[in-house]
Amino acid sequence: MKGNALTEREGHGRSLILAIETSCDETSAAVVENGTIVRSNVVSSQIDVHERFGGVVPEIASRKHVETITRIMEQAVEQSGYQMKELDAIAVTQGPGLVGALLVGIVAAKTLALALDIPLIGTHHIAGHIYANRLQQELSYPAMALVVSGGHTELVLMRSEGSFEVIGRTRDDAVGEAYDKVARALKLPYPGGPHIDRLAAEAEEVVPLPRAWLEADSYDFSFSGLKSAVLAAINQARMKGQPLDERSLARGFQESVIDVLVTKALRAVKRHEAKELLLCGGVAANRGLREALSASCEAEGIRLHIPPHALCTDNAAMIGAAAYLKLERGLYSDLNMKADPGLSLEKWSVE
Ligand code: KG4
Ligand code: ZN
Repeated sequence: MKGNALTEREGHGRSLILAIETSCDETSAAVVENGTIVRSNVVSSQIDVHERFGGVVPEIASRKHVETITRIMEQAVEQSGYQMKELDAIAVTQGPGLVGALLVGIVAAKTLALALDIPLIGTHHIAGHIYANRLQQELSYPAMALVVSGGHTELVLMRSEGSFEVIGRTRDDAVGEAYDKVARALKLPYPGGPHIDRLAAEAEEVVPLPRAWLEADSYDFSFSGLKSAVLAAINQARMKGQPLDERSLARGFQESVIDVLVTKALRAVKRHEAKELLLCGGVAANRGLREALSASCEAEGIRLHIPPHALCTDNAAMIGAAAYLKLERGLYSDLNMKADPGLSLEKWSVE
């Protein structure tokens, strides 16, 4: 749906988006001003509920979103210092994600958009992770994004603002998923990423593990072989009754992951002459990855942006930042918009 661009519709030069994110196990709402200023960003995590199952249980996630979404939206508006009636648009994650979980946010967003008679903007979750970087500073194009989350591992080329071309993706496990599976095998709590990160930092030795480079010119990733190698090492030690050095194993796993991510990201930046590299997604919180990428980028003279921790994991402020791309251009969604677990990032591009 094409509406009037914001500048025509509004006279005061300020735009306020209430953004909603419920794609997985965080219920979040945020008020973002002009696509760049976070006025509030309320995140309610369900991790304690899913922890005992060792992963996200979709039905429980949906039910928890239903229980909390109204309160979270009210809190976001209250903490922003603005009132509901001052909002200019409602943004919501349309996909990818768990369909039942997405649906809760979408129903809430539609209801509010209808009641306030303001535009609805269905937003791509990964565009949100990428544009979390825009909440920190202006971006220069072409830019390359390395997206590393629980569900995604992608290299995304942005030739201009709001245009997305996926040049590489995982062929099996997402990097966060591999972290969580390895952690689970080591009997660490869910989500396992931060625990592996901590163990790796404490390690004094490294268990050497394979790296999946794939074809020489490919920007794709594969982490299932590495995950299997870790699981095999754990099983072997258990079967032989040998003590398992979890720290060295975590370090070996993390080094293998980081080596491939950093090497491919830098190659992609150079090949496409990107002006900067944007790291984003939950795994961007990984200390080892942040340090290794920062060091390599500095050595190669590449500008690197990494959002602060709270903007790396799922949150609604990032959805507000991405939605602003559409609001500025008057690109709104219909009120019959559906949740789309397989929503394409490239098709979501503004150009
Ligand atoms: O982006 P996100 O919050 O949710 C998705 O959209 O998937 O990412 C969650 C993922 C989980 O797999 C979690 O284990 C991982 O991010 N993660 C980490 C770290 N912190 C969170 N992985 C490695 N090291 C960390 N420090
Ligand atoms: Zn995410």
